[in-house]
Amino acid sequence: MNEHAHAKVEKNVAVMAVLIAVAISFGGLAEIVPLMYQAETIQPLPGVKPYPPLQLAGRDVYIREGCYNCHSQMIRTLRFETERYGHYSVAGESVYDRPFQWGSKRTGPDLARVGGRYSDDWHRAHLLDPRSVVPESNMPSYSWLGDKLVDGALTTQKMQALRALGDPYSDEEIAGAAAAVTGKTELDAVIAYLQGLGRHAPKAPAVANAANVKNETNDAGGRP
Ligand code: HEC
Repeated sequence: MNEHAHAKVEKNVAVMAVLIAVAISFGGLAEIVPLMYQAETIQPLPGVKPYPPLQLAGRDVYIREGCYNCHSQMIRTLRFETERYGHYSVAGESVYDRPFQWGSKRTGPDLARVGGRYSDDWHRAHLLDPRSVVPESNMPSYSWLGDKLVDGALTTQKMQALRALGDPYSDEEIAGAAAAVTGKTELDAVIAYLQGLGRHAPKAPAVANAANVKNETNDAGGRP
């Protein structure tokens, strides 16, 4: 571009804005597009499958109730996180999460590895009345979750929609969805979802690398 043209662009706000947008999008694309093709970020970890019907319904209750406002599902690579929660989160664990529930707000603990940590009965008591099992808890009670049954037809439709987006549900799984949630309450569904979290976490021991150890300031701002 000769000097004259450059001066023109600089004096024209609209052209300048468009060119800045193009320049920034190019930078963004260069960072984001490769992630869409890297096996590490798009292939499920061994054992990670699309959510079974009851867990799928529970995930939607989790989203509806806004549990993500207080709970992340994203363990960072910092040692104080891996020692508390387990192996740090990797992309291959959440390939079937639409949308993912990583989050960053932690009024309560991270839930990425909570599956199997407590019994179903503990979760039942805790969700209906958190203070009955954790006296100092400030988590709200979700006393209504036991009142409503999971909708089988809707669950079937959700699975069909997810299959259209590429989730490998089989015909049998979809055909069996309604039966799988019959008679189950939303409480049962959330518990099934929570109990499934982190079951297929990477097996290797979590070792924070040197850079992370050096960086051990609490970037969670004092949150748990
Ligand atoms: C206002 C913030 C808040 C909301 C919203 C919230 N929680 Fe919590 N949650 C907490 C806090 C604080 C704790 C830690 C104290 C306790 O165990 O009750 C906690 C603890 C938990 C635990 C135990 C985790 C552990 O490792 O001990 C589970 C499971 C849980 N919450 C699930 C849920 C679910 C499911 C929802 C939505 C239905 C939800 N929470 C909504 C604040 C919240």
